[in-house]
Amino acid sequence: MNPPRANSAAARDIANVLHPYTDLKSHLQNGPMVISRGEGVRVFDENGRDYIESVAGLWCAALGFNNDRLVQAATAQMRKLPFYHGFTAKSHEPLIELSEMLIQRAPVPMSKVFFANSGSEANDSAIKMIWYFNNAIGRPKKKKIIGRIRGYHGITIAAASVTGQVVNHRSFDVPLPGFVHAMTPHHYHAAEPGESEDAFASRCAEELEKLILAEGPDTCAAMFCEPIMGAGGVVVPPRGYYEKIQEVLRRHDILFVADEVICGFGRTGSYWGSQTLNIQPDILTCAKALSSSYLPISGVMVNERVFQGLADESHVVGTFGHGFTYSGHPVPAAVAIETLKIYDEINIIDHVRQVGPYMQEGLRRRFADHPLVGEVRGTGLIAAVELVEDKAAHRNFDPKAKIGARLVRHMEEHGVIGRNCVNDALAFSPPLIITESEIDEMLDRVAAALTDLTGELRRENLAVVQ
Ligand SMILES: Cc1ncc(COP(=O)(O)O)c(C=O)c1O
Repeated sequence: MNPPRANSAAARDIANVLHPYTDLKSHLQNGPMVISRGEGVRVFDENGRDYIESVAGLWCAALGFNNDRLVQAATAQMRKLPFYHGFTAKSHEPLIELSEMLIQRAPVPMSKVFFANSGSEANDSAIKMIWYFNNAIGRPKKKKIIGRIRGYHGITIAAASVTGQVVNHRSFDVPLPGFVHAMTPHHYHAAEPGESEDAFASRCAEELEKLILAEGPDTCAAMFCEPIMGAGGVVVPPRGYYEKIQEVLRRHDILFVADEVICGFGRTGSYWGSQTLNIQPDILTCAKALSSSYLPISGVMVNERVFQGLADESHVVGTFGHGFTYSGHPVPAAVAIETLKIYDEINIIDHVRQVGPYMQEGLRRRFADHPLVGEVRGTGLIAAVELVEDKAAHRNFDPKAKIGARLVRHMEEHGVIGRNCVNDALAFSPPLIITESEIDEMLDRVAAALTDLTGELRRENLAVVQ
């Protein structure tokens, strides 16, 4: 690769930017892809080349990349009240209206909403609220947080601890003590030979109960689940899984936190992933599509029981000593209000129910039989195509071969920005406004990229591909 021109955007990036989720050393050689503008489901690089964003940025730009109403909502709010806060009982209209809208739309009765700026902060806040709640109700030992292997809940210290991914733990000295991880409910990899989905779901619940009993039920406070795991490779649990694990949690009085940071706002074909997967959470966190990601904002909804605990304890302490300068910032709140109004007006759920199955069917028809594809999975507008070395044995490639990353590079050559997740699972989570013809175009480009990768692997004798 040629070194970038002096003073080009790429050279200035290499000189100055410390990138999230990037091999920082390789980046000094390889440099960035500089994205300059967006339009609908596409973004354009600095040379004007278009890419379909098959993951909506980071599973988040639900209304695509140039929604003018959101720009206007931000501008109008900037002019009216560019900043105010919610500390010490101050409030403002966007904070009140957005809270009301979220409570009205919650999948189960919720009492109050707390705002933060990112999914990680929402989950960290939820963890602190759970500890505070259990102190309030006289259970100071009941503090452990259960995540799942491959689950993703963010990267602040507590959120990274409940996350179950190696790259978020290794060398960062997390997880903190008091965080444990249950098994991944992925039938494709974890089922015993001949085990039905129902039997597998039951085993997941039994394993969870064993974990809780080993830790001590009176020490376990809450379990965090993404209804469908996103960054862990779009893991859709087997039917009945959440019914079974929620029964275990209820038995031991352990709170359920639904992390709806990806699944919320229509992604799975219902307003919430909790509705698609039959979850009744005590606490729900959301972010990303809440503002179509045009400005940073996230929320934590708590039910009445949790709220009462927080209220009682804050009364004893004298204040609820938690909150960010930008909790409920009026500008992102105004953008979120406009986003939710647009979802209602364009009936985003019906749209996802129409184009989601179209994308799922297209992915399966085009890729499921390909010799390099082990599993195509997903629902609504979230899916994954997992690449394997041995299709019959469900065996992945050696991670060192970086097969998924190579497919992502070929996809970029063909005009699609993609996302490689755990186990070489290529994620699909396009803007929710995507149309059927844009899905066709995206899948044509991905198919061309897969053909290129197949040819490359055949030349390298890395895989038996006819
Ligand atoms: C399910 C889930 N929770 C939490 C987060 C963290 O959100 P953020 O990156 O805004 O901190 C993410 C980010 O991808 C996520 O997918």
